[in-house]
Formats: sequence, structure tokens, C-alpha cells
Amino acid sequence: QQPKDENSSVLFFDSNLLQKQGEVPKEFLWSLGDMVSTTQEELKEPLIDLGIMKNNDEEAIAIAAKHVREACLKHGFFQVINHGVDQNLIHDAYNETDTIFKLPLSKKMTAKRKPGGVSGYSGAHADRYSSKLPWKETFSFQYNYQNSSNTQVIDYFKSVLGEEHQQTGWVYEKYCEAMKRLSLVITELLAISLGVDRLHYKSFFEDGDSIMRCNYYPTCKSCSLTLGTGSHTDPTSLTILHQDQVGGLEVFIDNKWLGVRPRPEALVINIGDTFMALSNGRYKSCMHRALVNAERERRSLVFFLCPRKDKTIRPPNNLLTKKQPRKYPDFTWSNLFEFTQNHYRTDSATLQSFF
Ligand code: SIN
Ligand code: FE2
Repeated sequence: QQPKDENSSVLFFDSNLLQKQGEVPKEFLWSLGDMVSTTQEELKEPLIDLGIMKNNDEEAIAIAAKHVREACLKHGFFQVINHGVDQNLIHDAYNETDTIFKLPLSKKMTAKRKPGGVSGYSGAHADRYSSKLPWKETFSFQYNYQNSSNTQVIDYFKSVLGEEHQQTGWVYEKYCEAMKRLSLVITELLAISLGVDRLHYKSFFEDGDSIMRCNYYPTCKSCSLTLGTGSHTDPTSLTILHQDQVGGLEVFIDNKWLGVRPRPEALVINIGDTFMALSNGRYKSCMHRALVNAERERRSLVFFLCPRKDKTIRPPNNLLTKKQPRKYPDFTWSNLFEFTQNHYRTDSATLQSFF
């Protein structure tokens, strides 16, 4: 189903035009059930100090792994500090995000994501869906772990936005390099926490094809029935997210929506559907969403760890027991990705409906 008017401001998510209209178009309105409000409770999730991985402090690693395990068995969400990603680099990445989204719509549309594709600019995913649209713009691109050119992101930016956007590509190249390093460290901690060989997941992901996405959420006058990102689980393996100081990310824990207070020094880690399968269903894919507000625009930087597209997703043998037999059949990341392109889900049942 496509919005009917090919030139409508909705189809292009022309936020300037949409903000001038008195009412938010119906395509962006969610049901009251979707809006279930946030509780005021403090989120008590562990902040994992990743400095211990660098120092190889065995005792501290065991304690951290225990915390990670508890969080992932329950809801699939934790945060990390001392993650080794330079604060200046995060700051620069936000600056470049601003540069991209402040470009005129016509320029952004030159980098428009192709149907079924991963990379490029998208406004509210309005080219793909016609209701419950998220109030946001995104810009995504791939990051191949085996590409040794050191210019893959720069080349991408030059190709879709032109030579003058080299600098943006350069900053994200550095950001993705840092994310690659960090994502592989986290796979080690996850392996330890699951009691499997420390390098098991690291070697699985080493030739991966990950995805970086910048999110921009304009202000929304009537935000009581709109969402920046509706409730969902990420189909990818792991998500490493930084949100700016505006806040709006929420996670679903113990049947409640809890706000994740922005911490400039922390990165949020979510387990995604693919890692849930790789842990034989032990670790939960995290349900989350993002709110918008009427006063301040919001940005987030999201890195999705993904395996090589054609690799078989299968948990390690020692997670298969008589009591916990194989939970999901074999699949590849490209199979699951394709499925998610055609099925819009706002619950945590993506894997169940995929099989
Ligand atoms: C997302 O889950 O897609 C985005 C979350 C955020 O912007 O905080
Ligand atoms: Fe997400």
C-alpha cells in the first residue's frame, strides 16, 4: 500500500511543510494502545565498564559477564562506559548528522534509499509504508568489516552526495572503525556471559557487513499520538546506540516502558533478533521505541552489527541441550532482512512470524 498522492509532503516527509500544517497527517497517528505511557520508575540497568576488557582483568570480566547475562536473559538491554570511542568523534558524528539532515530535501532525495535496499536517505519510511509512520528521517549506509580500503564510507558519501561531502564520509568512516572494534569486544563479553568459547562470536562476525544509521527526529507539534520510532525489536544482531541529550529512547522491561536517560559517556547495547537466534533463544531481543517532542529536535547514532549476508545463523553446539533443544531452524541474515522489508512489525514476534 502506498500513499496515493505521489507528490504529497507525507511521501517525502517534508518536515518543514508538515510542521506548518495545523494537524499531523493521519499517516503519522498511532493508536492509543501504541502510546502506552512511560512509567516514572528509574531504570536500574547495569552500566558495564568495558575498561576491564582492555586490561584483561579476569575477575572483573566474570562479574561484568554475570550482569550482562542477567540483563540479556531478561530483556536484552544494557549500557557500556569506558568503551574506547572518543567523545570528540561522537561529537563530530552529530555535527555531520546535522549537516546531512539540514540539506534541502531535493539534495537528500538524490541519496534516496532504493526499495529493498539498506543504504541512503529515507523520510519516515513513507516510501515503504502508509500508516503508523515514524516521525523521523534516517540516513543509512553499510560498513563491511573485510574491506581494507579505509575509504568505503567516504566513497559512499562522495557517490551519493558529491565530492563536497567527503568530510562527512571521513567522520563516519572513523566512527564505523571505532564501532567495528567495539562490536567485536562486546561479542567476546557476550560469549563469556553465555559460557561459550570467548572468540566464537567474534570470529563469526569478523567478515560481517554492518549498518550505520543516523536518525533525525524533527520537533512535532502534536506528539501525543506520534512516535519517532514505534515499538520494535531490531532484526540485526547487536545494536550500539548513542542518543543526544534530548532523550526519548525507551525500553520495555517488566511490562513497562522505561525511559533511558541520556548519558553522553555511555553507549546503549541492544540484543537483536539475529543474536537471539545465535544464543538459541536464551538472550532476548530488546523491545524499544523512541518518542518525539514539541520543543527540541533529537538525534541518535545507531550501529547495527550484522554477519556476512549469506552466513548460516546457527547457535554454538554447547547451547543446544536436551532441556534447551534447537529453537530456530537455520537461516541467513539476508533471508531475515528481506522478510523485515515486507512485514512491518511493532511487537517482539519477528522471528516467530518469520519461521
Ligand atoms: C531505533 O530504535 O530505531 C532508534 C532509537 C533511537 O533513536 O533512540
Ligand atoms: Fe531499534
